[in-house]
Amino acid sequence: MKFKMAGMIPAKEKSAIVILGASGDLARRKLIPALSVLREQELISKDSIIIGEGRSDFTDESFRDRFEICGDFREQLFYHQGIDGMKEFIKTKGDFKKIIAFLSLPPSSYSSTVEKLYNEGFREEVNIVIEKPFGRDYKSAHELNESIHRFYPESQIFRSDHYLAKEAVQNILIFRFANSIFEASWNSTYIESIQINAFETIGVEERAGYFDQAGSIRDMVQNHLLQMLCLTTMDPPVSLDPEDIKSQKINILKAIEIEEISRGRYDGYLDEKGVAEDSDTETWAELKLKINNHRWAGTPVYIRTGKALDRKGTEIGLRFRKRPHALYNPPAGTAPNEIIFKVQPSEGIILQLTGKNPGMELQLARTDMAFCYNDSFAGNNIPEAYQKLLLDALRGDHTLFVSAAETELAWKKLQGLPKTVGMIEYEKGTVPDSVFGDIWINFENYVGIC
Ligand code: BG6
Repeated sequence: MKFKMAGMIPAKEKSAIVILGASGDLARRKLIPALSVLREQELISKDSIIIGEGRSDFTDESFRDRFEICGDFREQLFYHQGIDGMKEFIKTKGDFKKIIAFLSLPPSSYSSTVEKLYNEGFREEVNIVIEKPFGRDYKSAHELNESIHRFYPESQIFRSDHYLAKEAVQNILIFRFANSIFEASWNSTYIESIQINAFETIGVEERAGYFDQAGSIRDMVQNHLLQMLCLTTMDPPVSLDPEDIKSQKINILKAIEIEEISRGRYDGYLDEKGVAEDSDTETWAELKLKINNHRWAGTPVYIRTGKALDRKGTEIGLRFRKRPHALYNPPAGTAPNEIIFKVQPSEGIILQLTGKNPGMELQLARTDMAFCYNDSFAGNNIPEAYQKLLLDALRGDHTLFVSAAETELAWKKLQGLPKTVGMIEYEKGTVPDSVFGDIWINFENYVGIC
């Protein structure tokens, strides 16, 4: 069955999109390509402009040459050195009612950059997008929020978490709340455990300068993984108003209690360029959490993420409890039901069932029902997360962005934890043995399905 895309509102107004820190990696790899696709799909108008900002001395032409772009889009791209004079520069290009300022900058300069934007004269016409990491603990995140709010209200701040804009992550709420068959079993009476993986094959690559200061818990768990957990476990919001959704996510964040945590580091990490000799940074983390609320008390949550593992894969699994009475005895072939949300590298939702093996004997076998994007939505391109984030920031839609309260609460939950646990070493290209034992869903079973 094919679905039509509905509700896509082209951003008709012409807008100016300013990328602060445009000579960096994010602009080259993600932002400019995303904007180019949005332009191609006419989701941003042909009169809109994109201005790269940075300290380097580029001309418009030499800046454009940095990207693989051509045609009209190339002509919509400009460069301006520094924030001083940016307002005037934009005026010379036209009258823009909407301006996006995307901070693709080192986090240490967020606060001063926001102040500079204000001093430069940007007011209610600007929406400010801020990349993660937003702070490195509760205190710094709180101070950063306070310093930003001195100049701009929360309604103009868009803290990005690109996982929220991944198609399959957006689908979690639709799957749960637009279908009536799941809600009755979406609780601790039926769900034995919730498990989230975010595995990467790459190591720290060129990003050791940042990563060695962060580690997997700050880099992935505080934001992407806790956000996915919120969407998986939150109560239905009263409406689709971003505030209503956020308040349900906040209820989950408040109820989370981290019980156990274990850290690891791949062999050779200390030899990576840019890693401190005495680094204590983890490239692997496993956590066991509780959600202390009516719906989830009694259902543990397991989270694991790491770099230099054996495969790239992000998935969320819910394992159902066994039937209280084993009718099929011996229960060979029976397996607990599982629902798997495959987020990447391929997208889909899979339900594991037990069925009868065809034949004269009663033999049970594991089987799956799969909804794979590649089949159901063949022909529909799956947009890249940054396309959605940039478009939503232009539209002023906060749904897929993280509020000040969410980010602070998530940090609060992780406060002090990384220091309290040891560090195991693992071989590159392998997954460390779990400290939680044999509790994990065999996610590898689902790799080939979608
Ligand atoms: C980023 C982290 O937020 O997400 C990176 O800083 C990580 O360390 C990346 O590699 C993973 O994103 P994706 O979309 O490739 O899963």
